[in-house]
Amino acid sequence: MSLTNTPDPAERARVVAQDLENVLHPLVQHRALEQKQMVVVSAQGSTVMDADGTAFLDAMAGLWCVNIGYGRHELADIAAEQMRAIAYFPHSAMNLPAAQLAEQLNTLMGGGYHSYFVNSGSEANEAGFKFARQYAKHEFPGEFRFKTISRYYAYHGTTLSTLAAGGMGDRKIKFEPFGGEFVHVPAPTCYRCPLGLEYPSCKVACAQAIETTILGEGPQTVAEVIVEPIMSGVGVAVPPDEYLPMVEAICRKYDVLLHVDEVINGFGRTGRMFGHQHWGISPDIMAVAKGIISAYLPLGATIVKNKVFESFLGAPADGRQVFQVNTYGGHPAAAAVAVRNIEILLEEQLAERSASMGAYLMDGLKGRLMKHGIVGDIRGKGLLLGIELVVDRQSKTQLEGHLVQGVVDFCRENGVLVGRSGGGVRHSNTIVMSPPLIITRSECDTLIDVLDKAIADAVAKRAGA
Ligand SMILES: Cc1ncc(COP(=O)(O)O)c(C=O)c1O
Repeated sequence: MSLTNTPDPAERARVVAQDLENVLHPLVQHRALEQKQMVVVSAQGSTVMDADGTAFLDAMAGLWCVNIGYGRHELADIAAEQMRAIAYFPHSAMNLPAAQLAEQLNTLMGGGYHSYFVNSGSEANEAGFKFARQYAKHEFPGEFRFKTISRYYAYHGTTLSTLAAGGMGDRKIKFEPFGGEFVHVPAPTCYRCPLGLEYPSCKVACAQAIETTILGEGPQTVAEVIVEPIMSGVGVAVPPDEYLPMVEAICRKYDVLLHVDEVINGFGRTGRMFGHQHWGISPDIMAVAKGIISAYLPLGATIVKNKVFESFLGAPADGRQVFQVNTYGGHPAAAAVAVRNIEILLEEQLAERSASMGAYLMDGLKGRLMKHGIVGDIRGKGLLLGIELVVDRQSKTQLEGHLVQGVVDFCRENGVLVGRSGGGVRHSNTIVMSPPLIITRSECDTLIDVLDKAIADAVAKRAGA
């Protein structure tokens, strides 16, 4: 028996029981799952179907990842065809789709890069940390450059090192202590400036803090700085235009590598192929996943500038090669699907569409939602957007958590899936959206309409109505 689009309550109930008895889910509390669950069975475009026949407009593209939208059957055919030819072989050998994909990525970066393939964004960043350290060992003999500077409230993945690099205390606290190799600086979360300043009179002090930190730690101990161009998880924090060029200049000044996390920002999400391209910076190391394959299969990559790649060259006996392997890295089926995914992004001009549809959505959200006094800020770029909810605009006090969650739940009960930022006490009050880049105008209208009602409901609840 399998679940199909035809609602089958008995079969759905059986799957729920089987799941609850056997699966350990991420993030959600199982007690809550006993009361209410989603059992997804199919999806098309921006719509996901539950086994009970409910359709949801997925304004999160899964977990910020199904960029080209659901239901592209040609990708299933490509994976099947590749598996029939050769399903797997370790990537110490070469294979055609992975070579093709690396060439595509290099072209998208304007040339001068090599790609190392992994299976997820976390692994892509992990490999990036290791490459930065290995590069430093080769290029700065006698120094001990091992530290990564990252920002508070960043999210870079779920493994111990990527968690340590991240700056979300509430996600880290149960797994501490970590080593001391990740040093944090304030993030460019301008609506709630951690330095209590205001742009532009702040002179982008948060970027300057990176230089202070490099000097304080000792440049001879710092291997790299990691940034996500637009910080997604904390509630879509778009930095001031000077920020990333300033960070890059500081990195260059101290020979520190610039590691850019494009796991969410990449592949059209922000209205350009990569988020950093809005600011003209040039990553030394770049982590990608999610949109590289629109989540049709697991795939990530660590893309390194040729100066890093060349540091790994030498005679076999020199031991300069990459000292790690991911069994599934360069998986031919995943690579073949990613190649077609990128072709679709280019053919359908989905980065450009993200820019124009994002502007449409942003205008609609501002036009309809700013009438609610609890909407503090609406921000984003392309189809990466956030609505920060506050008690009132003057105090900017975060809206009570249960009311923020209430907006997410109201949307879901009315057929629309939106997300909520992470970031503990300070930053978990933003509704986040990252829909498939093929979302239509009428779907954007539905999203705006449902959010309007959801926020009105929160206002009424707050007033005790
Ligand atoms: C910015 C960023 N980097 C890295 C990751 C980790 O990716 P993954 O969950 O594929 O390991 C995520 C996941 O959401 C992310 O948002």
